[in-house]
Amino acid sequence: MIARGVEVKSIEQIRLMRRAGLVVAEALAAMGEAIRPGITTAELDAIARTVLTDHNAASSFLDYGAEWGYPPYPATACISVNEGVVHGVPGNRKLASGDLVSIDFGAILDGWHGDAARTFCVGEVSDAAAELVERTRLAMWAGIAAAAGASRVGDISHAIELQAALASRPLGIVREYTGHGIGTAMHQPPDVPNFGRPRRGPRLSRGMCLAIEPIFTLGSPDTVTMADEWTVVTRDGSWAAHWENTVALTEDGPWVLTEPDGGRAELAARGVKISPLAS
Ligand code: MF3
Ligand code: CO
Repeated sequence: MIARGVEVKSIEQIRLMRRAGLVVAEALAAMGEAIRPGITTAELDAIARTVLTDHNAASSFLDYGAEWGYPPYPATACISVNEGVVHGVPGNRKLASGDLVSIDFGAILDGWHGDAARTFCVGEVSDAAAELVERTRLAMWAGIAAAAGASRVGDISHAIELQAALASRPLGIVREYTGHGIGTAMHQPPDVPNFGRPRRGPRLSRGMCLAIEPIFTLGSPDTVTMADEWTVVTRDGSWAAHWENTVALTEDGPWVLTEPDGGRAELAARGVKISPLAS
């Protein structure tokens, strides 16, 4: 059902999105397990493709853009290393100890999309890089926890923004990329910016599904897109981290569709009970 431009999902449809979400979670976990110095980003992408095949799922990302005349995205995962922000194209780059690697992945099952991202540390990383990764992860959970009691998108955005200021040195908040509605398409209204004011922006309602995805940097948040028209890096070369989950807002609480436990543990730690539908 579409209400005020937003696709409102039934319980049955949210259960279908959960199946796509679990494929995404499995692929991200499989890539995470495989990360070690010397592995290439193309090898990680191949692991994710196998997970899609195992589940008869399709990629949300492969060939994305072709419909509007953009160069079609050539892989199933976006893999962004160090100063890479988003949309890094897998290739023959070998990961090295000390690298940060952000992996964004989306799957389609029975027409429903799941979308999530994790930033992994390769071997031993600097204290600053480790703090960036953890603070971005905390911001994602703060945003998801805020969504539980929120009336408008700005409540989520504001909760994420506050987290960036809590690091030992304030982190940059990337502004060009936002979270988004998700469902029968990967990107739907509303946008979910990673900064904003409480009680502003589009109204939230049950049956909405949102991808909540903070992207923070150790320096300036400004980005540039490379000549391949996909790879996005920070303008100043500072390192970036990206965490994302797909979340369903149900009548009795959120359900984090791209986490194996539905978000139960992280949200309980923040005083939020997930939907009893989650299992
Ligand atoms: N998953 C990204 C997002 O969170 C988009 C991927 S771009 C694509 O919005 F081209 F790879 F699809
Ligand atoms: Co997304």
